[in-house]
Amino acid sequence: MSIPTMMKHTTIREPGDPDVLIPDQGPVPAVGAGEVLIRVEAAGVNRPDVMQREGNYNPPPGASLIPGLEVAGEIVAMDDSVTGFSIGDKVCALVSGGGYAEYCNAPAPQVLPVPDGLTMIEAAGVPENYFTVWTNVFERGGLKQGETILIHGGSSGIGTTAIQLAHLFGATVITTAGSDEKCQACLNLGADHAINYRDQDFAEQVKKITAGDGVNLILDMVGGDYIQKNISCLALEGRLVQIAFLQPPVNEINMMPVMINRLTITGSTLRPRTIKQKGAIADQLRQQVWPLFTAGKLKILVHETFALEDANEAHRMMESSVHIGKLILDTAK
Ligand SMILES: NC(=O)c1ccc[n+]([C@@H]2O[C@H](COP(=O)([O-])OP(=O)(O)OC[C@H]3O[C@@H](n4cnc5c(N)ncnc54)[C@H](OP(=O)(O)O)[C@@H]3O)[C@@H](O)[C@H]2O)c1
Repeated sequence: MSIPTMMKHTTIREPGDPDVLIPDQGPVPAVGAGEVLIRVEAAGVNRPDVMQREGNYNPPPGASLIPGLEVAGEIVAMDDSVTGFSIGDKVCALVSGGGYAEYCNAPAPQVLPVPDGLTMIEAAGVPENYFTVWTNVFERGGLKQGETILIHGGSSGIGTTAIQLAHLFGATVITTAGSDEKCQACLNLGADHAINYRDQDFAEQVKKITAGDGVNLILDMVGGDYIQKNISCLALEGRLVQIAFLQPPVNEINMMPVMINRLTITGSTLRPRTIKQKGAIADQLRQQVWPLFTAGKLKILVHETFALEDANEAHRMMESSVHIGKLILDTAK
């Protein structure tokens, strides 16, 4: 198949509400050193894209200004230096921008084969969540078999991934979500306990569930008044991994329990990391997680798909938080 010179993509006209996302046309990107060019069949929508659209999460230097952090599609061109892939391979990739488009470049180390058993739509929902959860829960958070983890935002793309991986790697999973329907979806994915945080105080519930011991690890994307409550939920030597702030990041906190209980408070962002660092995470995913897809043990919950032209509708839905799992742009729609 020949590669056109122009493609459809989404442009962020200016920082603002979802309608600043507009359908646009532009040149198909040229393949850079160490990159593959992917004909995008589907692209994942992620909360960081919403923050970028609002003007609160600028692309790192050198990244495409087109939004979109993950794609699935077919390799149609590649730099001569790339090994391990061929033209025509069906892949999914983590990118630092450029996903909401018909064609997207990806550094080869961030490209993975489409996991066995997944459709291209499902595969587009894998990279951002799996790279993020792997590095924050297992590498940074050091989750071990037999430990207990509290995962906030259990019905989010990140949450649905973290629940399944933590469960499959032998942890007891407690999660929070904003409705009974969402809690049930989390239980269906392997969570042992799901707390509807709108009806119940999650810190009190965690104490009850753990008989006062607390949890070993917390994955949090909320911040604000969750910070002190999270600290109160941690067991001796517990770890809090902060991956976002849906509430403000600034809050006055009492650090005494951090000292007394020898706690670790950490966090990270994925996007600004180097290709080498992301490639190392990809290697871990390929070795430790891709076989779980092959075994049929992991599901990608796709809540809804949208045409590329309707990226604004996808963002509106994401901000409403009605979704359970992933929102995906389908370039064939
Ligand atoms: N650090 C990193 O490298 C990194 C990478 C990717 C994503 N992230 C972050 O991870 C989070 C999840 O991303 P995603 O793409 O999976 O987003 P998502 O699917 O939109 O999930 C966000 C969820 O958070 C819950 N929520 C929203 N506001 C809340 C609040 N004030 N208090 C408690 N819960 C709230 C909502 O569910 P409820 O109905 O349950 O409230 C919503 O479903 C985002 O904050 C994103 O920025 C971080």
